[in-house]
Amino acid sequence: MEIIITPDYEQMSKTSAQIIAREIRKQHDLVLGLATGDTPVGTYKELAKTHKEEGLDFSKVTAFNLDEYVGLAPLHENSYNFFMEENLFKDINVNPENVYVPQGNTNDPEEFSQWYEKKIKEAGGLDLQVLGIGGDGHIGFNEPGSSFASRTRVKALEKQTIEDNSRFFEKEEDVPRFAITMGIGTILEAKKILLIANGENKANVCAQFIEGPVSSQITASALQLHSYVTVVLDEAAASKLKRKDYYNWVRDNKHLVQKKVGR
Ligand code: PGA
Repeated sequence: MEIIITPDYEQMSKTSAQIIAREIRKQHDLVLGLATGDTPVGTYKELAKTHKEEGLDFSKVTAFNLDEYVGLAPLHENSYNFFMEENLFKDINVNPENVYVPQGNTNDPEEFSQWYEKKIKEAGGLDLQVLGIGGDGHIGFNEPGSSFASRTRVKALEKQTIEDNSRFFEKEEDVPRFAITMGIGTILEAKKILLIANGENKANVCAQFIEGPVSSQITASALQLHSYVTVVLDEAAASKLKRKDYYNWVRDNKHLVQKKVGR
């Protein structure tokens, strides 16, 4: 895992957008996995800006979102379909035919999940998956206890996730109890992974998934099993890391590191 600690949310957003843009420039038909939540909003703004000012071209990119609430139609203002349209898709030139976000109001979530997996495979697999992290250590909606072999499926949400996400709804009772989410197994098959996190409230869970044991109780710790993960944090989210000096040395000596490990 490469850990990049940045001073604040703004820089975290810029750095992560640069990483995504670099991959798109290298491979125009990149298969890009995307995430929702407060964390990536700044990253998506930066990507939209790069598209507008530097012509970053999304026309051949295929996008797959991680998850969606069960029961919410794509036009529902709390749906992740709506979120993605508002926060990214409307501002870039991605082809709507190449955009996949799980459909929350499907009649048959199980069949839908299998179709979603098939679509990812047919696209050639995920090249780069962007992730946030939940307060309970989840990636996607893979709540504690999710199997590391899990595929796209319906998952019941943890109490903490429902509380955390209630800020987007009028009242807590309105937060859906279930979501369709890519599995940990699905995520781990991405060629590269970029996880971003900011804020003091993510400090404990970041220390746990980066430096703690691999455990299904913190599903983000499964990323320790992946060979190409970049984590971009702000200072607050990085504040409980024990090996900060090491990560910062590697970040500041990138020219030396690149020569040796080729990243
Ligand atoms: P957040 O959510 O970006 O709104 O903190 C992250 C997540 O739950 O994955």
